[in-house]
Amino acid sequence: MAFGKNGVHMAEPQVPGVSATGGAAVRAGVPVLEVNHVEKVYGSRNNVTRALADVSFSVDKGEFVGIMGASGSGKSTLLNCVSTIDTVTSGNVVINGADVTRMKHAKLTRFRREQLGFIFQDSNLLDTLTARENIALPLTIARVPAKETLARVGQVAQRLDIAGVLDKYPYQMSGGQQQRVAAARALVTDPAIILADEPTGALDSKNARLLLESIEAMNRQYQATVLMVTHDSFAASYTNRVLFIRDGRIFTELRRGDSPRREFFDRIMEVVAMMGGEGSDAL
Ligand SMILES: Nc1ncnc2c1ncn2[C@@H]1O[C@H](COP(=O)(O)OP(=O)(O)O)[C@@H](O)[C@H]1O
Ligand SMILES: [Mg+2]
Repeated sequence: MAFGKNGVHMAEPQVPGVSATGGAAVRAGVPVLEVNHVEKVYGSRNNVTRALADVSFSVDKGEFVGIMGASGSGKSTLLNCVSTIDTVTSGNVVINGADVTRMKHAKLTRFRREQLGFIFQDSNLLDTLTARENIALPLTIARVPAKETLARVGQVAQRLDIAGVLDKYPYQMSGGQQQRVAAARALVTDPAIILADEPTGALDSKNARLLLESIEAMNRQYQATVLMVTHDSFAASYTNRVLFIRDGRIFTELRRGDSPRREFFDRIMEVVAMMGGEGSDAL
């Protein structure tokens, strides 16, 4: 596991089933994710929807990348193709050097569990488990020793400021706390990439901000690589780079560089307006 003191990413002892890299060496500037000419067509002959058309991009280790676009532009389809939940029509997706579009079912299940972290709009926590047990679940499934599991869960919870809810059940937590627990669950296995689809979609603005700060902390303190779909310019302003998609194609991208978040937000809003809307409502 790679959680050191002060958030330093340390050399990791080999934990069976929970390798951060699946054995592949990860170097700075090396893409964790490569999406190559991905096309996705739904339906057959008379009723065809081309949800994605020739989408290519890559994400480096430690990047926090946003995907923005209007409703129906293909954001979820893209994330589902990357996360192996959906299959591509053509093109391929490579994660940590492994072509997931050619992986067979059994291997894929394991790959998903070990290499991918998920945060959805709804937390998908198990109602009968406490927050601690929910966060621990992926490690329990991977047969990580109990002592180490507890230590990891405690550390992640502290970093994401949810240590106080660890013994609560989902119904005893606010929506925002549930989402931060879900974020901790996505992070705890130290996955190659964390995939989030509208993670703030069901939250009020205060809780959205807290969740985004948690994801930002995951990214900065653990060098977690995050790909986040959102239609919200405010959420997108927390990322390092935003890909804008329209009609299933990448329209343009914005890099934050060293700009403060507010300035990045303004630049995002400009692109949103240019893409044909009045404000973020158009996306
Ligand atoms: N399972 C499906 N079957 C048929 N069409 C689909 C399916 N999923 C998505 N689509 C279509 O693909 C397009 C992109 O959808 P989606 O990726 O959900 O967009 P977004 O997440 O940006 O709102 C839309 O036109 C949508 O109707
Ligand atoms: Mg969607």
